[in-house]
Amino acid sequence: MRALITGGAGFIGSHIAERLVAEGHEVVVYDNLSSGRRENLSGFAANANRLELVVADVRDAAKLAECAAGCDVIFHEAAIVSVPYSVEHPQETHDVNIQGTLNVLQAARAGGVRRVLFACSAAVYGEDPEMPKRESMRPSPISPYGVEKMCGEMYLQTWAKLYGVETVSLRYFNVFGPRQDPRSPYSGVISIFVDRALAGTSPTVYGDGEQSRDFVFVSNVVDANLRAATTPGASGRAYNVGCGHRTTLNDLLAMLGRIVGRDVAATYAPARAGDIKDSLADIALARAELGYEPAVGVEEGLARLIEFERKRRSA
Ligand code: UD1
Repeated sequence: MRALITGGAGFIGSHIAERLVAEGHEVVVYDNLSSGRRENLSGFAANANRLELVVADVRDAAKLAECAAGCDVIFHEAAIVSVPYSVEHPQETHDVNIQGTLNVLQAARAGGVRRVLFACSAAVYGEDPEMPKRESMRPSPISPYGVEKMCGEMYLQTWAKLYGVETVSLRYFNVFGPRQDPRSPYSGVISIFVDRALAGTSPTVYGDGEQSRDFVFVSNVVDANLRAATTPGASGRAYNVGCGHRTTLNDLLAMLGRIVGRDVAATYAPARAGDIKDSLADIALARAELGYEPAVGVEEGLARLIEFERKRRSA
């Protein structure tokens, strides 16, 4: 198949690209390189015939339409991914995360694309204390980011009904793994903690560290995407993509300490606005309908990430 991956030079997008190229598919990576990087593609870009990089923004509807034409599937991974950044810059994140998604859907419709996969988020569940989160629960986001991801998902479901474009929304929980960039204060917590642990400096915990997340290694997320791209009857649906286990930040620090072989002592700071307290996925629906199984658990994923980072630093 020919696939377009928005955000394909970013963390999750580049892993999807790598898997598709390995399976012999033709891939167009669409990325404005704001957080994505060419180096994320360099390890598997040898076969240039099958991988093309288009440096452009999802806010550029005309360019998106040009690139989507003739593609079978779009993996829409491009987004501003930080909850606190959306609290500070809600107009910018609206433009990228909502208008950008609408642009992808318009391009899919015009270009005859069979199916669109959307990187939605556990942030749509918000503060509902019920745990684990099931797809049937009423969404109640508490950040602009959560609203934007919910809105994107609703657009997808509408497209599936109105225009015959197949769409599947994957509600990612907290994805981690190689190539997640730790250099911004808005980066994912595991990328930052691993970076600090290997540098021997102290990570900052916002809050008491008892907040919890369902951390999911990136290879599991790639697997969910490939299944969602091909499973008949999945169109119009939304699925949780997590591990089904909850880890607090304090547990995470202890786990990190075990793997690196020394204590990782954190500094504690006030909690961040817009943050949810706890998050845990019920993955029964993805298991039943997509055959999804998170093959790599949190501690194993963390060990793999640390090994990757150690090699990268010594290279
Ligand atoms: C993350 C993703 C978001 C995804 C969502 C799904 C990122 C940047 N965000 O949001 O795209 O949709 O999961 O659940 O990948 N924290 C610290 N210290 C730090 C950084 C963070 O204590 O240096 C804390 C935060 O305050 C928060 C928790 O760690 O309580 C997780 O934060 P973060 O990694 O930013 O993820 P989410 O906000 O859950």
